[in-house]
Amino acid sequence: MENGAAQPVIVAIDGPAGTGKSSTSKAVAAQLGLSYLDTGAQYRAITWWMVNNGIDIDDPSAIAAVAGKPEIVSGTDPADPTITVDGVDVAGPIRTQEVSAKVSAVSAVPEVRSRITELQRSVAAAAKAGIVVEGRDIGTTVLPDADLKVFLTASAEARAARRSGELKGSDVNATREALIKRDAADSGRKTSPLAKADDAVEVDTTELTLAQVIECVVTLVEEKRAGK
Ligand code: DC
Repeated sequence: MENGAAQPVIVAIDGPAGTGKSSTSKAVAAQLGLSYLDTGAQYRAITWWMVNNGIDIDDPSAIAAVAGKPEIVSGTDPADPTITVDGVDVAGPIRTQEVSAKVSAVSAVPEVRSRITELQRSVAAAAKAGIVVEGRDIGTTVLPDADLKVFLTASAEARAARRSGELKGSDVNATREALIKRDAADSGRKTSPLAKADDAVEVDTTELTLAQVIECVVTLVEEKRAGK
């Protein structure tokens, strides 16, 4: 733009667990002065609430009946992303293995998805400079008009090794099995499954460092902004 004022830019970053979505999305947002939204954290937060309130995770109708109850608020500063449920900071509790094991079942329930999708769209619309939104269905369903869509992939081995590094001391094989199970559930569900949008740029991060992935996505955003 001639006056140097950049238009808000919406960037959708999707892909399975362990591909570097969160680290990449936060860094890209910080470098470009954009907001950041971790949609997985929102699904984890609603799952945490269900577990905490004794809802039967194996009963989709029980989950659907209370999907509108918890108030989930996401802070969108990439340097300090926050997540609260009914005013309680749940940034730590949503990362437990129990929540990780149950989140796919909760996030497959259509009433949960429509509720959280609406929330995500309102957060994106409120971001004045633009936003990087990471998840599974952002390019396909939540923000189909995003300016840039990126789909990150990596081999199962690379993803498990990264996740085990994050969850210090955990067994790589067990992590690999858990990731594969969760991806299969996320890709196989009926309502807005994990999928690459037709117009997404696929980046295989298996052989790339985090710095290289960040640089690649920053370049893609800058090219979009320059109208290339
Ligand atoms: O990104 P994550 O691993 O924290 O996501 C946790 C789960 O949330 C993931 O297994 C599936 C669900 N999820 C989803 O269904 N749609 C999204 N846009 C983001 C996450």
